Amino acid sequence: MSADTVDPDTGELAAAGLGLVVEDAVATVTLRRPERRNAMTPGMWRGLARVGEQIPDHVRVVVIRGEGPSFCAGIDLRMFTADGVPGEQRNPSPLDPGFDESIAGFQAGYTWLRNPAFVSVAAVQGHAIGAGFQLALACDLRVLADDAKLCMKEPALGLVPDLTGTKPLVEIVGLPRAIELCLTARTVGAQEAGQLRLAELVVPAGELDAAVADLTAALLSTDAAAARETKALLQQAAGNTLDQQAAAERQAQGRLLSASARR
Ligand code: ACO
Repeated sequence: MSADTVDPDTGELAAAGLGLVVEDAVATVTLRRPERRNAMTPGMWRGLARVGEQIPDHVRVVVIRGEGPSFCAGIDLRMFTADGVPGEQRNPSPLDPGFDESIAGFQAGYTWLRNPAFVSVAAVQGHAIGAGFQLALACDLRVLADDAKLCMKEPALGLVPDLTGTKPLVEIVGLPRAIELCLTARTVGAQEAGQLRLAELVVPAGELDAAVADLTAALLSTDAAAARETKALLQQAAGNTLDQQAAAERQAQGRLLSASARR
């Protein structure tokens, strides 16, 4: 079995508080600021976007995990202080001409996880707050330890969730529950998260890694090309009419069978 880090030269990802290990068809991205509960900065969001650009074509599963007791405590709150975070850019101001582009750049750290080339899995223990909850929501699947606590804290801090979390939240829990969760900023425990379908699996905390490994093995047991076409089909289903989706299924089957006939 081969294992390699994708960023061996520059250590740029490490400086951004990220680790990336690619082992055969599985890439594992680790948030590595446990002393701050993996609180996130613009540098970390840009680093995540770079990870997305570097995922090799043969990868079929991307696991996002956090080191230490929490998955991720959201934005580094020092960003809102006069001193800021050493070495980091200041929070973009809406008065800056590049405000929209700055946030789009942060969002790019999340959107790559929807790529149909692979299935993304969030392995969540402890807190997933704000930007951290949105990171879990950016993944296709969520496996929660039974100590997981999810919270969309932004409205309590005078912010909106702007890291692409609102769409998957509504898709998963429905509009009324999404409004209730965001506008109360209350914390959802693992068991309730399972009931709300915010977790595909809830497991004892000590079994999180094993559960993710089992899920990964099951995801790798299907045909790679069929898995990619199927994820793309499923992703467009909600936005398509039945006729459009039926046509998309025919086209996907044609592409798949033509490709396998050429092999
Ligand atoms: N930003 C900066 N530092 C943080 C953050 C954060 N978001 N979260 C935790 N830390 C730091 C703490 O300041 C503390 O540092 P210290 O050891 O120097 O005092 C260290 O991480 C450990 O945190 P504790 O609070 O001691 O850890 P505990 O496990 O008891 O609590 C918890 C964890 C619940 C996550 C708590 O730290 C917390 O509420 N953090 C803030 C969460 C938050 O409001 N995030 C913003 C959400 S909105 C958004 O993301 C846009």
